[in-house]
Amino acid sequence: MKIAKTITEARTWIAQLKEERRNLGADPKIGFVPTMGYLHEGHASLLRRSRQESGISVLSIFVNPIQFGANEDLDRYPRSEEADLQLAEREGVDLVFMPSVDEMYPEERKTTVTVTGVTERLCGASRPGHFDGVATVVSKLFNIVKPDQAFFGAKDAQQVAVLQKMVNDLNMDVKIVPCPIVREEDGLALSSRNVYLSEDERREALVLSRSLQTAEAKIQQEADATPAEIVSEVTATIEASPLAVIDYVELLTFPNLKPLDDDQTMKSLRLSEQSIILAVAVKFGSTRLIDNHIMKLKEVPLHV
Ligand code: PAF
Repeated sequence: MKIAKTITEARTWIAQLKEERRNLGADPKIGFVPTMGYLHEGHASLLRRSRQESGISVLSIFVNPIQFGANEDLDRYPRSEEADLQLAEREGVDLVFMPSVDEMYPEERKTTVTVTGVTERLCGASRPGHFDGVATVVSKLFNIVKPDQAFFGAKDAQQVAVLQKMVNDLNMDVKIVPCPIVREEDGLALSSRNVYLSEDERREALVLSRSLQTAEAKIQQEADATPAEIVSEVTATIEASPLAVIDYVELLTFPNLKPLDDDQTMKSLRLSEQSIILAVAVKFGSTRLIDNHIMKLKEVPLHV
């Protein structure tokens, strides 16, 4: 496994890897998993998918300062270079790109990639500038790695929607591949930030997956349930946890992230074959967790 710390090294080695694969008559397609490190089983599942579906597997590890707000956790974002490299090696990564901040942002930056429309709600509303930072760094990484396909976890569903829009709008020649959320056995969605949770917070954080699951069952079973009813039930369930402070609970269309009309019942949504996302962001102490369920309503068996 090669480790590139500079953009020049990454480009040189990627060109070499492609050449080697071509000479072997093998698939030279690049699968790319961009991350901020502190890798867990969720990242491992993306790397596995990338390995299975591409001849060359590239991982980037870069804690991107421009996607953190002034009061967010950039300074204490967890890092574990050695364990990350071991996991990457285990998952058959060919090249890890791990640049410094100076390498990625050497001088005052004058270019920002802004995606509108899908960034106004959810995390886009509570973390102003966050998706500009994500879209800008991912554009830079795509220009460096030149992947054929890039794999992202569906836990960051809005990120997937933003990057899909960016790639479409800017005609970037890369396929965005969303991959399922990976959960602990008890339902907690894996996140590098779970490490911040105290024992009590970790226990209470289960309310996220539990409330989403209950809501999905309601959506399946109650054809007349309205978006407002579902949102208020999820809100009430989460509010019953003393340590939980809600940032948002929203039920929107997916991937356009538009609000649903209050007179739309689950039955009418199903008939329109509309995908929807029920998304939550909740703080436990200083740790903000997100989770979601994306439902393709045409596939949901409504008991009417
Ligand atoms: O999902 C993440 O870890 C980050 O937002 C990403 C896509 C690596 C950009 O910094």
